[in-house]
Formats: sequence, structure tokens, C-alpha cells
Amino acid sequence: MVHLFTPFTLRSVTLRNRVVVSPMCEYSCEDGFATDWHLVHLGSRAVGGAGLVFAEATAVEARGRISPGDLGIWKDEHIEPLARAAGFIRAHGAAAGIQIAHAGRKASTRVPWDRHGSQIAPGDGGWIPVAPSPIPFRDGETTPHELTREEIRGLIQAFADAARRAILAGFEVIEIHGAHGYLIHEFLSPLANHRNDEYGGSFDNRIRLACEIAAAVRAAIPESTPLFLRISATDWAEGGWTLDESVELARRVKEAGVDLIDCSSGGMVPYAKIELGPGYQVPFSERIRREAQIPTAAVGMITEPDQAEEIVAQGRADLTMLAREFLRDPYWPLRAAKALGVKAPVPVQYERAW
Ligand SMILES: Cc1cc2nc3c(=O)[nH]c(=O)nc-3n(C[C@H](O)[C@H](O)[C@H](O)COP(=O)(O)O)c2cc1C
Repeated sequence: MVHLFTPFTLRSVTLRNRVVVSPMCEYSCEDGFATDWHLVHLGSRAVGGAGLVFAEATAVEARGRISPGDLGIWKDEHIEPLARAAGFIRAHGAAAGIQIAHAGRKASTRVPWDRHGSQIAPGDGGWIPVAPSPIPFRDGETTPHELTREEIRGLIQAFADAARRAILAGFEVIEIHGAHGYLIHEFLSPLANHRNDEYGGSFDNRIRLACEIAAAVRAAIPESTPLFLRISATDWAEGGWTLDESVELARRVKEAGVDLIDCSSGGMVPYAKIELGPGYQVPFSERIRREAQIPTAAVGMITEPDQAEEIVAQGRADLTMLAREFLRDPYWPLRAAKALGVKAPVPVQYERAW
């Protein structure tokens, strides 16, 4: 039996296989609007046989964009072009997912291919980022504005409103971005969160925002919609967020209605020492799945069909997520199915090639 190509059901959504297109910022928008690029980029990966295709980190408010080119979902006008992409994905047999996000203190940068994605100063077309505490990501960058409790309430609402719009756009899976040093992760990690109120200090206080956002998003979407949370399972840095804390967070957000933990890592501080290698984040997924008893996704340097198959077969993750490999080959699932000796989810239009 080939596990990678068995269906997987969460709530009322059944994925045709365990291969997921990991969210990838395309930095190709103006004012947050999806374009034909998104339709083709996401659509071709649905045609390529993925079980679930995630749209990139999509900002819940304008100042929560990493760059001015980020995708957004902070106003109702954003729904229509997103709906076009989501509809195409669904029509081609994949589930349509979207990652809702806020960049926190890592906001207001150039797109990566312009001056290495360096920060844009507020007077130069950028803006002042927001964060749990007034600590910039890098020395010399703009000091972020420390969010007030009232502003935090507004942000929780912004995530809920974004999720509601995502449902209207036809997305079937919602992922909250709680990883990579962006806003939610900044609250989790003692390296970015120096607050003295109920959102900082103890573990319970640092996870409060993540839990409140999860609960608010869950309340804003249908009971039948699966909710994922992407976390950085470790900061890979002294004094930072740890894997033990991730396991406990997974237990707590499960109670708040999260169905799956997407296990990434890093992004909190520029000096993190990440031990890179094939499948390097799979152990995080394995441990969270086993100890928090919650479905997980593994991501990070998964590139080979046998490797992905083994991860699922050995119960180290329920889903495998691929990012860069999907930029090399949108048809990776078709090739993987063939390599593993199962019937590939080939669109009828392409059958003669397979
Ligand atoms: C171009 C690009 C854009 C990315 N954008 C996002 C994003 O929007 N949200 C996110 O959670 N991760 C993002 N990532 C990280 C990937 O989703 C993935 O976790 C990471 O690349 C490791 O997987 P890989 O080794 O298969 O590429 C991005 C990665 C790349 C290469």
C-alpha cells in the first residue's frame, strides 16, 4: 500500500492524497489583490496533482504585509480575485487552502529580489511595523510599535474577518500563520515578547494571542472547515521558544478548535543556528503528533517520493508539505505517484503524456 496517495479527511474535507503545496509568498500584488499570477501559479499545482494547494501568507491588515507586494484579505474587494483561484483549484480535484497572516515586526520590507528584501523606512513608502514589544528584528531597523491591548483585540477581529472572507472566496482549509518570526510567533517567543501584561511573561500569557486568534477564527468559519496552525516548533536560539512549549501549545489550540499543526521552525532571530538537512523538521512533527495527539504536517527539504512516503507510512506526519520542490516541478505529485507505482491523478487533458 502506498500511504502518500491515500485520502485524508479532516472535518468535512477529504484530500485526495497527502501531498500539500506549502504556502509561498509570490510578492506579486498591488494593494493586496490576487492577480492572474496567482491563478496560474496555484492552479498549475492543482493540475499537477496536489491534494491541497495553499495560497501564500495573506495579510489580515495592510500593515501586516511583509512587503507592499503581499497578498491581502483585509477588505471585501479582495474576495473576488481570490475566489477565481480557489474555484480553479477545486475544479481540478485539489482542496483550496489559504494561510492568513500578519508579519508583525518583520513587515515593511522590499520584495526579496529588490535589494535583498531590506526594510523600507516609513518615509520611503514603508510603514511602522507592530509587535508585542518595541524590539526590531535586526539592529538598526525601525523600532516596531508596541501593540496596546485594544489594538490586540482589533487584530484578533482582523484574523476572524479574514477567515470569514476566505470562506466567502471558496477556500476549504484555513491556516493561521503562527511561525517564522511573524506576529503570532513574536508573542510566543520570549526573544520578541517582553510584555508585562496578560500577553507576556509566563507560557500561558505568551500563548494567549495564538489561542484567542484560533478560537476567533474557529468561531468565524463553518464547523465543517478544517483549521491548521503553522508554528515554528523551535527558535533554534538560546532563550527562545522550544519544542516542549510547542507540544503544549498544540494541546491547547486543539481545545480551541485547531485540527492540524503544520510544523516548521525558525525565523525569530537572524542569528538562529538551524540544523538544515533533508526532512530536518520531521522530528518536530513526529513528536507533536505523538505527544499532543493531533494530526500534523511535516515540511522542509522533503523532495523525494520515497522520503515523503516513508514520513506518512511511519506515522511521522499525516501530510507532507513541499515548497521549493513545487517551484521546480508543479507536477511533482504526478511523478511521485508514478515512481511509487500508483495511479497518478492526471487530468484528462494530459492523459496521453502519462
Ligand atoms: C518563495 C517562498 C515563499 C515562502 N512563503 C511562505 C509563506 O507565505 N508562508 C509560510 O508559512 N512559509 C513560506 N515559505 C516557507 C515554505 O512554505 C516552506 O516552509 C519552506 O520553504 C521549507 O520547505 P521546502 O524545503 O520544501 O522549500 C516560503 C518559501 C519560499 C521558498
